[in-house]
Amino acid sequence: MHPHLKEVLFTREQIAERVKELAEVVSRDYEGKNPLVVGILKGSIMFTVDLLKELSIDAEVDFMDVTSYGYGISSSGEVRILKDLSTVAHGRDILIVEDIIDTGNTLLYLKKLLTGRQAKSVKIISLLDKPSGRKVDIDADYVGFEVPDAFIVGYGIDYAERYRQLPYIGVFNEEFLIKE
Ligand code: PRP
Ligand code: MN
Ligand code: MG
Repeated sequence: MHPHLKEVLFTREQIAERVKELAEVVSRDYEGKNPLVVGILKGSIMFTVDLLKELSIDAEVDFMDVTSYGYGISSSGEVRILKDLSTVAHGRDILIVEDIIDTGNTLLYLKKLLTGRQAKSVKIISLLDKPSGRKVDIDADYVGFEVPDAFIVGYGIDYAERYRQLPYIGVFNEEFLIKE
């Protein structure tokens, strides 16, 4: 385990197993629809790629980069687009892929945006859900694991841009918070 973590919540094997299960459900639900799978940078990099590899149906992939945290530890509530889709959303069955839903600000914003572009459908898959963090009314259609009210890092999820490369998910030890 990385020395800056307090504990591992999900090992790489547990994640792989759950991703496979989710991919089976998604493959069933989107059979014949050629969904547009939209990975939300940067947190969902690992999950998006691993999920795509487990799908047994045709799908397209695109990415959007949005941010509301920057280097801070709490959501600013204001979501900014850093990179937009390069695919036309109109008429598409879109599956937004996220690493975690916390306040819900990011996903509420994205769902409204893509619905407004007249996608045929917009659904959300999030590997993690932290229900205790929710500030707006939104939920994912597919969730991998529920997580407690703790500082989560790894498997794409960062603190101040660090720890994304860890192949497992764990709780950050706040003794290692960067002090200004
Ligand atoms: C994190 C995370 C989710 C979002 C969840 O992204 O990856 O996208 O915050 O929080 P919310 O439900 O409170 O909106 P962040 O904005 O830190 O950008 P990143 O993915 O590039 O790290
Ligand atoms: Mn993110
Ligand atoms: Mg972040």
